[in-house]
Amino acid sequence: MADNSAGLLAAIDVGSSKIVCAVAESISPDRFKVVGLGVAKSAGIRNGTIDDIELLNEALIEAVEQAEKTAGATIREVSAGISGTHISSKNMTMLTLPDGEVNKSHIDELYSKLLASGKGQNSRYLAMVPISFTLDGTAGISNPLGLECKRIDGLFHVVMAQSSPCLNIKKALSRSGLTLFQSELLFNPLSSAMALLTPEEKGNGVALIDIGAQLTDIAVFIDGTIQYSAVIEGGGEQITNHISLKAEVDAERAEELKIKMGQVKFNPMQDANESDVLPVYPGFSQQESRTITKQALSSIIDEKVADMLEKVYYRIQDQGLHSQLQHGVVLTGGTSRLKGIDRMAREVFSSHMAGRDMNVRIGRPIIANDTLEFIAPEKYASTRLTGSLAGFSLPEFSAVMGSLYDQNIKISTPGLRSKKNMFGRLKDWIFGNF
Ligand SMILES: Nc1ncnc2c1ncn2[C@@H]1O[C@H](COP(=O)(O)OP(=O)(O)OP(=O)(O)O)[C@@H](O)[C@H]1O
Ligand SMILES: [Mg+2]
Repeated sequence: MADNSAGLLAAIDVGSSKIVCAVAESISPDRFKVVGLGVAKSAGIRNGTIDDIELLNEALIEAVEQAEKTAGATIREVSAGISGTHISSKNMTMLTLPDGEVNKSHIDELYSKLLASGKGQNSRYLAMVPISFTLDGTAGISNPLGLECKRIDGLFHVVMAQSSPCLNIKKALSRSGLTLFQSELLFNPLSSAMALLTPEEKGNGVALIDIGAQLTDIAVFIDGTIQYSAVIEGGGEQITNHISLKAEVDAERAEELKIKMGQVKFNPMQDANESDVLPVYPGFSQQESRTITKQALSSIIDEKVADMLEKVYYRIQDQGLHSQLQHGVVLTGGTSRLKGIDRMAREVFSSHMAGRDMNVRIGRPIIANDTLEFIAPEKYASTRLTGSLAGFSLPEFSAVMGSLYDQNIKISTPGLRSKKNMFGRLKDWIFGNF
């Protein structure tokens, strides 16, 4: 078996419902071929925080072994994404006084000040992304290098995480025999954004909403850069629990119903109705011969999904960014596979937009079935897909494919491979990519 130090890319997403490990062969900075995939049911993690490292290790090893088997390679080094309600983000401004031409040392100074200002004992930075720079009062400068000025105010999007959940994920990886690529954890919504969002979407204003099992990740891009991100509690598991409560079935049966005939905004004119027999359990319903129709199930699901999407909308509105989503919304994550969820997102977001109809699409990583090559969103406009998509081009793999893409850029771009300090590398990469 080949070792992935021999040039393969590998990434892991430790989600609350599944752990996925993906392996790829790099072709060029924006091209790679997916050669291995392993998925295991998650265990030992809740809302992005580990509660049983032994269980998590077993699940990690299962996913990695499956990926190794399909790739025919040994995986040693992985990129890994993290999400969780312990993560928070804010935009911060830092000042420096160059008095002449702006060079890298001025930008380094801004980063050093950022690092010194916000970091607490129990938190660490996951990302510091430049939004824009103001030079001597002129706002909206994207790259100040080489320009003359006396004062730079740099505005940054800063993502902070609690230290312990990060250390625990790193510990779980190393106990499973894995090292973390460049010793950095990635922030999942940024990875999903890399896998899915086109430059046009980011330029025009878009909200990426990754709805998983227990968490919903939000990333808002305006004018080409990230302006807001958040992780909120709630996902597919909440929908399942709501079905369980309302239809009086256990969680396992509720999940089965959701996957089999779950739908959002059932439309009797368009959607074929069907029904399913519900079991009778002691402690749940005592009624005999119960059935549930797709339409009735849909109205249960609608309630919860509308509630979840409203919460996301209000988070974005609180930042005053709702009116700047000129492109609209991209939904991803496993829960975006719920049929009709895009209709509900359109309805929820449009209802606050004074008559403007919001554009909503489901985002999935695009992997061509014939070549197994990942198509970067920057190339959507110029790529003509001739065949079908690979079966694993699924919305729940957005984050892991984005992490692979990120690793691919870092290993195939000279300078980003070097062992500079974390933010030196991050900065180089960010300037090139956001
Ligand atoms: N076809 C489907 N229809 C409806 N829901 C689905 C479907 N497929 C998967 N899901 C739901 O998607 C959720 C899992 O999504 P995903 O794999 O993105 O989560 P995760 O990354 O493990 O968790 P999180 O991001 O919350 O930590 C589950 O709640 C599952 O029920
Ligand atoms: Mg997830």
